[in-house]
Amino acid sequence: MKLQGEITLPGDKSISHRAALFSAIREGESHFSHFSGNEDCASTLSCLRALGIQHEYDNGRLRIKGKKPQDWRQPSEALYAGNSGTTTRLLSGLLANTSFETVLTGDVSLSQRPMERIITPLSLMGARIESARGRLPLRFFPTTGLKGIRYVLPVASAQIKSAVLLAGLFAEGTTEVVENKASRDHTERMLGLPLREEEGQRIISVSGDFEVPDISMTIPGDISSAAFFITAALIIPGSELLIKNVSLNPTRTAFLNILQNMGGQIEIETVREAPEPMGHIRVQSSELQNVEIPDDVIPNLIDEIPILAIAGARAVGRFRIKNARELRVKESDRIKVMVENFRRCGLQVEEFDDGFAFCGPHKLSGARVSTYGDHRIAMAFTIAGLHTDEALQIDDPSCASVSFPDFYSTLESLIK
Ligand code: S3P
Repeated sequence: MKLQGEITLPGDKSISHRAALFSAIREGESHFSHFSGNEDCASTLSCLRALGIQHEYDNGRLRIKGKKPQDWRQPSEALYAGNSGTTTRLLSGLLANTSFETVLTGDVSLSQRPMERIITPLSLMGARIESARGRLPLRFFPTTGLKGIRYVLPVASAQIKSAVLLAGLFAEGTTEVVENKASRDHTERMLGLPLREEEGQRIISVSGDFEVPDISMTIPGDISSAAFFITAALIIPGSELLIKNVSLNPTRTAFLNILQNMGGQIEIETVREAPEPMGHIRVQSSELQNVEIPDDVIPNLIDEIPILAIAGARAVGRFRIKNARELRVKESDRIKVMVENFRRCGLQVEEFDDGFAFCGPHKLSGARVSTYGDHRIAMAFTIAGLHTDEALQIDDPSCASVSFPDFYSTLESLIK
């Protein structure tokens, strides 16, 4: 069995969320093609609909008509963000500044995730938000207007950065977000926000009179979804794969550099630089060696760590992830869940507070894997299962739809 062929992937999830949210606050109509049809982006669209934002979605094409949050409609019931942290945190930056009360809820996983990380800066700006001890549901009360702040991010997080900047769009004065470690930059890039670098820090600013531009575009394919196929092609002998028109945003491609450093034969061709970089990736199966993964790139490959670890298990030498405590507060506790599932597959893994380590290469054995409802765990272990002698069972494969509803059929189409 090998993987062979050419694919294009659904639109990038992070860019699709932002496409919808940024167009929803701009007077007028915006158009997108290749908008992601996954469950998370559907949550963003359904929250926006409940807030009075009209849109039409058909097979990747999105037409959306926006207006200022002050003119949004009060929803008749609580907004439901499903499993989506990005919907919750980015939308919160806008709900902080409406003239009505709103409640924001989510599924069991989202309801366990920390929200004080956005409540704190938004409250400093003057927002009135009630939460269940820093968790969902969040209740937003009307305010008489927010004030700009300078906020140094306590953790590298594009979601916190974006929530503060979105609130800053409608606040009095200037809002500055200071990053010590770069997180994904779609928000500042898509909105065209001023950015400066001072003593190793990135400072992004926005003022309350900022005019949101028309960001209509063709959304590049999802690079985080591509990671599963890239890894599969690298570890299955005889594979060759071409992924076309995928996002090559440099704050998202750190895992490609790591895999190349591991000996992965990956060729990258950029075909577009703006508004979001896009290009083609060609992959050939390769012998892999584990390499040190530097701390400063962790925020730029945080979503790819589960699948990178599957590549690490096939590679020679020690695979180690450190300084990645954020993994514990993703859709599942990804440190605990990776360690637990690897151990079930016969791999000896060391668990740290902020990561895990093991020695490769190791042929994983078949086992029953628990996803804890986490899409990236389901997809990562599906790829691992292509390589086991006994069947590797995934307890809840359908949760892949959170980011990639056609994951299994796309994978099947490549298996020769
Ligand atoms: C995202 C940012 C990341 C990432 C998430 C999507 C975004 O989260 O893990 O899947 O679109 O802004 P953090 O910003 O909390 O690290």
